[in-house]
Amino acid sequence: MTLTLKIVIGSTRPGRKGPLVADWVAEQARAHGAFDVQVVDLADIDLPLLDEAEHPMKKAYAHDHTKTWSAIIDEADAVIFVSPEYDFFAPASLVNAVQTLMQEWRYKAAALVTYGGVSGGLRAAQVMRGLLGNVGVMAIPQGVMLPLFATHIQDDRFQPPAIAADSAGVMLGELAKWAGALKPIRG
Ligand SMILES: Cc1cc2nc3c(=O)[nH]c(=O)nc-3n(C[C@H](O)[C@H](O)[C@H](O)COP(=O)(O)O)c2cc1C
Repeated sequence: MTLTLKIVIGSTRPGRKGPLVADWVAEQARAHGAFDVQVVDLADIDLPLLDEAEHPMKKAYAHDHTKTWSAIIDEADAVIFVSPEYDFFAPASLVNAVQTLMQEWRYKAAALVTYGGVSGGLRAAQVMRGLLGNVGVMAIPQGVMLPLFATHIQDDRFQPPAIAADSAGVMLGELAKWAGALKPIRG
């Protein structure tokens, strides 16, 4: 069974490093082999702060940006969120993107790849796992934390030490199991 994996770039600011980390995650995911991999950039979708009148549970969207985002997540069997840590938290862009939808998330598997200074974005991963649970996502415990990530960027390429690829392999294996198990129970 091929599973559709969306790798979501969570930061949107000019000059952000998120796309470099996401490129590395996509390489790992393609090499893993269980997934059809697509990178999704929240900066391209350009979601404003939630501007839909109806509760997301109704899936009655008025705006094209919401419909685009909804269609992307509808297609997903699994999602990897690539997230920085902003002020010991996840970036508002990513929290807003999750809260914009509801039905699209339910019974899907997700994992977190976070990056930052000494913390490797661990605190962002923890708050995201709580949020994702509340919208019906199985946010698996296996993830990749990338401490001092900026020291592993050379010539606009993110190349972390081998231990990061090892973590990614474990995460992707678990994500494939959960995504495969959850697929049949979605209506
Ligand atoms: C608003 C803001 C808050 C930040 N807070 C943290 C933090 O709490 N922990 C951390 O490790 N790094 C923090 N940083 C540094 C980020 O890890 C670093 O800037 C990283 O490149 C941000 O991801 P981005 O480039 O994809 O936006 C912060 C950066 C910004 C812009």
